[in-house]
Amino acid sequence: MGNGWNQNFDREIFLARHWQRKPLLIRSAVKDFSPPLDRHELAGLALEEGVESRIVEYRDALWQLHHGPFSEQDYQRDFPWTLLVQAVDHYIPEVATLRRLFDFLPQWRVDDVMVSYAVDGGSVGPHYDNYDVFLLQGEGERLWRLGQFCDSSSTLLPHDELRILDTFESEQEHLLGPGDMLYVPSGIAHWGIARGECTTFSIGFRAPRINDMVSRWVDQLLEQMDSDQFYRDAGQASVTRPGEIRPRDMERALAQLQAALDQDPCNHWFGELVTEPRYEPAPDDDELAEAKALLRDGATFVKLSPAAKLAWQQELEGIAVFANGGSIEFPQGVLPVLITLCDSWRLEGDTLSGAMVDLDSAALLHYLLESGCIYVE
Ligand code: SIN
Ligand code: CO
Repeated sequence: MGNGWNQNFDREIFLARHWQRKPLLIRSAVKDFSPPLDRHELAGLALEEGVESRIVEYRDALWQLHHGPFSEQDYQRDFPWTLLVQAVDHYIPEVATLRRLFDFLPQWRVDDVMVSYAVDGGSVGPHYDNYDVFLLQGEGERLWRLGQFCDSSSTLLPHDELRILDTFESEQEHLLGPGDMLYVPSGIAHWGIARGECTTFSIGFRAPRINDMVSRWVDQLLEQMDSDQFYRDAGQASVTRPGEIRPRDMERALAQLQAALDQDPCNHWFGELVTEPRYEPAPDDDELAEAKALLRDGATFVKLSPAAKLAWQQELEGIAVFANGGSIEFPQGVLPVLITLCDSWRLEGDTLSGAMVDLDSAALLHYLLESGCIYVE
């Protein structure tokens, strides 16, 4: 399939008016679109151990959830059902290529590409996500209803695992065909219903929870702080009610806390948080040794793994590289290699041989191999 958008999509207008604000329907979004995966391949993937998949079924007026891996007979059902397979981009490079459409957004915001297949009438119910999502219609047609803005106070149907809305106020309806795309910002209720058999590719964008940001930031600060500092209250007035924590005591405590928080913690916590992998990569020692040898002896390609979570950040004295949840600082000279890798997902020819004769860039490539972000060929 072609890699680019059709001309009717204007990324600047999208960013100014729609991103995280309001939905956008893009008819025939992708140039020369043909679905990068068909329903049989998807169904096959969900038979595999280690691939995260679910089936949602609407049966006797109840929503039911089944977890994969599945067997062929799980696909024989009498009620409308949907198969959802998570992180398909990690397994199928052609599906990962869909993420390239979104390289006008920071790539560390991308979560994964989920692919669903539904029989006629199949649906996962009215719901909202805490994710921004681009719903790209693959095969067949799906009717999408868009509804109200929701948050944690919105009422859900009682269910241990599914988060289906109790009420849905339909505000727009769009019938999507192959290659059409619907952008749904986080928090907007949506409800897709298959019209005949269909597949949908959901390119999801995650945002870190503020709770997690606070927790990581505090962890980093605690690591850097001297644990032998204590609350001080020199020069205080004598107490009249010895059991009381006086307003003045509290003010002192808060001022001293504030002074501690004002220390500038090293800010790697953010990059480490947003590059945390969905599934832990488990590089095999033998494969790693082989890959390092190949890299040393003249590999043809270095490629970004489809599951890699890779980002970098300019520091005062170099570049912090975040790879699958870890981080290391490198000298400034590694930047061209990083930029090429993040832009084109590969290094080859002179760029690769140049990188291997530069000690810092070679060390960067070793680090990326060890963290499971790249592979060599
Ligand atoms: C689906 O593909 O059926 C569900 C996707 C979504 O609602 O996020
Ligand atoms: Co959704």
